[in-house]
Amino acid sequence: MERTLTILKPDCVRKQLIGAVIDKIERAGFRIVAMKKTKLTTETAGAFYAVHRERPFYGELVEFMSSGPCVPMILEKENAVEDFRKLIGATDPAEATEGTIRKLYADSKGENIVHGSDSDENAGIESSFFFSTEDAVRVDN
Ligand code: CMP
Repeated sequence: MERTLTILKPDCVRKQLIGAVIDKIERAGFRIVAMKKTKLTTETAGAFYAVHRERPFYGELVEFMSSGPCVPMILEKENAVEDFRKLIGATDPAEATEGTIRKLYADSKGENIVHGSDSDENAGIESSFFFSTEDAVRVDN
């Protein structure tokens, strides 16, 4: 079993799509290990996306991610990192495959509904950003 970290972003919450997106995630076979609703500050959003600090879109990204509540979750499934990125589709919804979460629900590259970890290592780092070891203990279900 592998784990990945997702964030249902502020646009997902604003559009009242939390349930629709979780439905897609569960139907694709992911189990929710940990989940909460929280709101990032510009400081915490900036720290989460620190790898993008030098990118031209960093300011916009931090502003958007701290613009309202979001829902981070740890998900579990075989091949979770790669399979989740397939389920959400390309960063730019215009380039995303039909049926993917971003194709269905996202407006733009910046406001793209969900985040998904890009590697097993980053999934671990990103999960610790939001959750404690106790939060992430899997309940057998
Ligand atoms: P995410 O998977 O959360 O990881 C980094 C985010 O940066 C990405 O999704 C996009 O939402 C955002 N991003 C990437 N490229 C751009 C861009 N050109 N303009 C605005 N935001 C971007």
